[in-house]
Formats: sequence, structure tokens, C-alpha cells
Amino acid sequence: MAALTGKVALVTGAGHRKGIGHGIARQLIKAGATVVISDLADMQSLQNGVTDLQALGGEAAATLCDVSDKVSFDQALDFVLKQYKKLDVLVNNAGVAVGNEDFLAITDSDWQLSNQVNLMGAVTGCQTVLPFFKQQNSGSIINIASLAGLGAINGIPANYTATKFALVGLSKQLALQYAADNIRVNAVCPGSVVTQMHALTLQSIAESNGVSLQQAQDIENASIPLGYSANPEAIGDAVVFLAGDGASYITGQALPVAGGMAPGL
Ligand SMILES: NC(=O)c1ccc[n+]([C@@H]2O[C@H](COP(=O)([O-])OP(=O)(O)OC[C@H]3O[C@@H](n4cnc5c(N)ncnc54)[C@H](O)[C@@H]3O)[C@@H](O)[C@H]2O)c1
Repeated sequence: MAALTGKVALVTGAGHRKGIGHGIARQLIKAGATVVISDLADMQSLQNGVTDLQALGGEAAATLCDVSDKVSFDQALDFVLKQYKKLDVLVNNAGVAVGNEDFLAITDSDWQLSNQVNLMGAVTGCQTVLPFFKQQNSGSIINIASLAGLGAINGIPANYTATKFALVGLSKQLALQYAADNIRVNAVCPGSVVTQMHALTLQSIAESNGVSLQQAQDIENASIPLGYSANPEAIGDAVVFLAGDGASYITGQALPVAGGMAPGL
């Protein structure tokens, strides 16, 4: 029997096929879970994602979920419960990388958006599922933070770092508070993963160093002991581990999945 057979998982920010959310969904379904993918908008793209996931041989569905809107999150949970009668795993993956590496150039709206999605989106997700998990007396929440949530990394906007640190803190506090209800809360901290968000980071490395995109990738690779950026599936594998019974004694941890890259200061 696969590790997650019989478990139902909801993944936020999983609307496009090249993102980490979809990579997580692929690994969850391969491990036997039923997976509901969600995103801010674009139901067509979500439906295409469902078709891809079903081709892997499992059960999948999609629903819209704007993590910055409590009503939208409630509706997503209702959808999952109507469809599958239970939820075992919430993956708070939705995130935005806005801002500027120059602290003084970060706008109020950058601060607001990163706070609204990176931190408060996960807060809303936890507020939505925790009453149900408590009633069920089980559940696993996995927050996709960042290596930038463990230390300050050159070139990363302060608003991104601050919200990802806060997400790690949230994971630890909730792990403590809900352990008695058999609910585990952990964070996964990716380093560099090949997605649209990563393409923007590379562009910024290229611009600030006055080099080509390939040279920017080489600069980044030199800072990763394993020498390359991960595929989204590598983050999915960590999520599968933390969601499964093999991690039943692990809670309140922030797991770097970063090819050995150090979090910095
Ligand atoms: N790519 C990397 O190198 C990297 C490294 C560390 C951490 N991360 C984190 O991993 C997660 C996924 O990143 P990614 O690289 O796949 O980025 P991405 O931009 O490809 O995907 C992010 C997804 O979040 C969705 N989203 C944004 N606002 C939302 C909202 N209000 N409600 C619901 N969904 C919303 C977007 O529509 C998008 O589908 C993020 O939390 C990001 O901070 C990424």
C-alpha cells in the first residue's frame, strides 16, 4: 500500500503546472493520496492540472481558493468535504515574491501583498481547517516557507524574508498548541526551485550583477553544494514524507530542502 493511501490533501497555489504546488500535488498523488488543487483564479488551468494528475493514476479535483479571502477558503474546504467527506493534509503553498532587494524601495503595497499571501494566507488556511482537524482528532499542516525563512540571504527582498520567517514561527507555535489534538504542523523551506518565481529571482541576480541569465544561474549554482536548482518534485517528496505516518512523531520542524545551501545570516 502506498504511503498516503486513503488520505485527502488540499494544496493551495497549485494552479500552474510548472509551480511547486503542482509538483507537490504530483508527488502526493503518486504516494496514493486524493488531491485537491486550488489557486486564486483560472479554473481552466486548474482543470488541465487535474487531467495531468489523474493521468498519474489517482483521484484529483480542483477548486478556486484565494488564500487572502476567508470566505473563499471556507468554500474550498466545503468543496473538499462534500466531495471526499474528509481532509487529512493542508499544504499552504501559495506565495508571492514581490518587493525589492533595496529595502528603501519596497512599497507599502509590496509589504501588504506579501503579508496578505505569504503569512496571512497560511493563517487563514489554518483557521479554516483547524476546527475540522480538532473534531477529527487528526491532521497535518505543511507550510511552504523558504530557506529565506531561516536566515537572511543576499538579494532577497526584506518583505519576503520577514513574511517567511513569520510563517516558520506560525508553524512552530501552532505545532505546540495543537499537538494534544493529534495535529502536526511543519514547514518546508525550499532553497532554489525551477519555477516562474525562480525565473524572476534569476533575472534580478542577472540585473544586479550585470550578467546574462545563464551566468546568473551559474552564480546561483555555485552557492548550492549539490550544484543545481531543484525540480518542484523535490519539494513534493518532502511534503509526502511530512504528511505520512512515517513522520507521525515529527511536528514543529522547519525542514530545509535546499541542496545543502546555507540559509545565511
Ligand atoms: N521557486 C523557488 O525557488 C522557491 C524557493 C523558496 C520558497 N518558495 C515558495 O514556494 C511556494 C510556491 O512558489 P513557486 O515557485 O511555485 O511560485 P509560483 O509563482 O510559480 O506559484 C505561486 C502560486 O501561488 C498562487 N497565488 C498567489 N497569490 C495567491 C492567493 N492570494 N491565493 C491563492 N493562490 C495564490 C499563484 O497564482 C501561483 O500559482 C511559494 O510560497 C514560494 O514563496 C519558492
